[in-house]
Amino acid sequence: MPLWDNILVLICSNITIQGLTILAPVSVPNTDGINPDSCSQTRIEDCYIVSGDDCIAVKSGWDQYGIKFGMPTEHLVIRRLTCISPKSATVALGSEMSGGIRDVRVEDVTAIHTESSIRIKTAVGRGAYVKDIYVRRLTLKTMKYVFWMTGGYGSHPGEGFDPKALPAIQNINYREVVAENVTMPAQLDGIANDPFKGICISNVSISLTEKPKKLLWNCTDVEGITSNVTPKACDLLPEQQKPIDCAFPEDKLAIEGVKLTTCSA
Ligand SMILES: *[C@@H]1O[C@H](CO)[C@@H](O)[C@H](O)[C@H]1NC(C)=O
Ligand SMILES: *[C@@H]1O[C@H](CO)[C@@H](O)[C@H](O)[C@H]1NC(C)=O
Ligand SMILES: *[C@@H]1O[C@H](CO)[C@@H](O)[C@H](O)[C@H]1NC(C)=O
Repeated sequence: MPLWDNILVLICSNITIQGLTILAPVSVPNTDGINPDSCSQTRIEDCYIVSGDDCIAVKSGWDQYGIKFGMPTEHLVIRRLTCISPKSATVALGSEMSGGIRDVRVEDVTAIHTESSIRIKTAVGRGAYVKDIYVRRLTLKTMKYVFWMTGGYGSHPGEGFDPKALPAIQNINYREVVAENVTMPAQLDGIANDPFKGICISNVSISLTEKPKKLLWNCTDVEGITSNVTPKACDLLPEQQKPIDCAFPEDKLAIEGVKLTTCSA
């Protein structure tokens, strides 16, 4: 965990972060905006972040240390975020995810001149899971990859990681995404013999930059479906005959019901 993160939220529960502006120099790496790390019931809303690293990086411990500690980040809602991050993601899940990441809801996000929207970063040795991820209503402008999953995010804290500790990536839902000036709609790399499963992408419209990549969707070791997605996705994410909407939970998290009270002078 770099000490120079602008904001670090570590091992917490019942936190609301509201109306924050973080302006970090985009040329300086390792300046993540907000890092919920092993946090339960967290609400991040109405924030504006300019960063040289991920605007929001969701984490839960690294390799054998994170597996042993075993504290997930769960029940997290991120909404009404505006992000500029030319070198990194709008919201990264991982790469430190060895306590697990589950039940993350992201909605109403605008990203401009950002490398990717949501990025999942993991690798063999990290164990645990990233699951039950729900994302909707993204407005994106000038982006390298809209959807990015990396199963070979190789950095390890030492030699002691367990090569049998495979992460389970499943039930990942993206819907209602409009993106302009995109270089490559999707680079999705799962892990051999440990595919990322239950990926659902619906109602997505992506227009390309003047010089897009030739291969628009590059998918390996992933399984899932798409519906009403343009340009058409890879064969591993077949278009459904009957249109569907990918899931987004109807219930609210407990932290969404918490009202902040202000003191009057
Ligand atoms: C479109 O994206 C390219 C990078 O691929 C960038 O150089 C250019 O400025 C963007 N155009 C607009 C209108 O934002
Ligand atoms: C997604 O697209 C389908 C087919 O065009 C449409 O019926 C549905 O209402 C859309 N859903 C959302 C949530 O926009
Ligand atoms: C597609 O992704 C694979 C796996 O990451 C990579 O080896 C390959 O070079 C990519 N292909 C293209 C055309 O980008």
